[in-house]
Amino acid sequence: MFEPDDLIIEARHLTKSYQLSRHRFLTACDDVSLNFYKNRTLGIVGESGCGKSTFIRMAVGLEKPTSGEILFHGKNITERKGEELRLSRRNIQMIFQDPGEAFHPRMKVKEIICEPLINFNLIKKNEIDSKARELLEMVELPGSFAERYAHDMSGGQRQRVGIARALALEPEVIICDEITSALDVSVQQTIVELLLDLQKRKQISIGFISHDLALVQQFAHQIAVMYLGNVVEILSGKEVGTKARHPYTQALLNSIFDLNMDFSKEIVSMESEIPSPLNIPDGCPFQNRCIHCMDICRAEKPGLWEIEPDHLAACHQFNRFNYREDK
Ligand SMILES: Nc1ncnc2c1ncn2[C@@H]1O[C@H](COP(=O)(O)OP(=O)(O)O)[C@@H](O)[C@H]1O
Ligand code: SF4
Ligand SMILES: [Mg+2]
Repeated sequence: MFEPDDLIIEARHLTKSYQLSRHRFLTACDDVSLNFYKNRTLGIVGESGCGKSTFIRMAVGLEKPTSGEILFHGKNITERKGEELRLSRRNIQMIFQDPGEAFHPRMKVKEIICEPLINFNLIKKNEIDSKARELLEMVELPGSFAERYAHDMSGGQRQRVGIARALALEPEVIICDEITSALDVSVQQTIVELLLDLQKRKQISIGFISHDLALVQQFAHQIAVMYLGNVVEILSGKEVGTKARHPYTQALLNSIFDLNMDFSKEIVSMESEIPSPLNIPDGCPFQNRCIHCMDICRAEKPGLWEIEPDHLAACHQFNRFNYREDK
């Protein structure tokens, strides 16, 4: 399903440590390797503060990693800067939670949508109206919205404008960071459907970052679950419900009132608090909340092992020495 020729961005071992004071460091993202493929959606899921946005900011070049490297079509672009960075950003567009906040209140929708084209000198003034209408149609908004201001629209409509703006430069990759989090559930679904339709038409690679596993598992080809800066499980979106092995993924799944509202399902709550990212324990980061914690979990940090094809988990229960079929 993931062909090497379709690989667009390869993020290898990305780590980001912030120095908070002379002796205090916060590791927001710890040795994370993930790939973005043409025509595929990678979902990155985990509770708030687990490092999703930090990882993405590094992968798209908005922030320098402390260590690790980023390859774009096989070329190492970790150290790009200046014009090279600007040009590479053309191919990777980001959409944020509330694009309304990013839009200038006195700019009309057509100016917002066409701004990236203007910045790259790709459009003449007299082409703005028709281009804006074309892009609005692509995100299923009426062309007349071109003359509106962002504050004149609903959250869902603003998010469509954000998608139209991201599409303007015809990027290969679109990263959506919590773009549906502030929207009603019904509007969330329509935004996801729009993205999937655009992917089908334009073969875009989508990175969809969310704390909502129930939503992401519906459409992501691959899901990476993050916990305290670490990826703890990677598996196919279709198989999350049946094959998730990591105790954290399972806890996330069990705490979801899923779409079918299965009230017979036991709801497992995670009683302990998530540790402070300033105080991540040695060994497995999930140990204080894990009902399966063993001695080894406190002593050694589990690596991310392939436990079956296209399925990796970082848990001592499933590492290559201990993996048991019956688990
Ligand atoms: N610029 C920064 N300086 C210091 N700490 C940061 C900075 N950015 C993020 N963090 C910390 O890194 C951790 C991960 O944050 P973030 O990547 O925003 O998580 P998420 O997107 O999953 O909510 C958090 O503990 C956050 O407080
Ligand atoms: S390594 Fe141990 S503590 Fe960590 S998730 Fe697996 S069983 Fe739980
Ligand atoms: Mg975030």
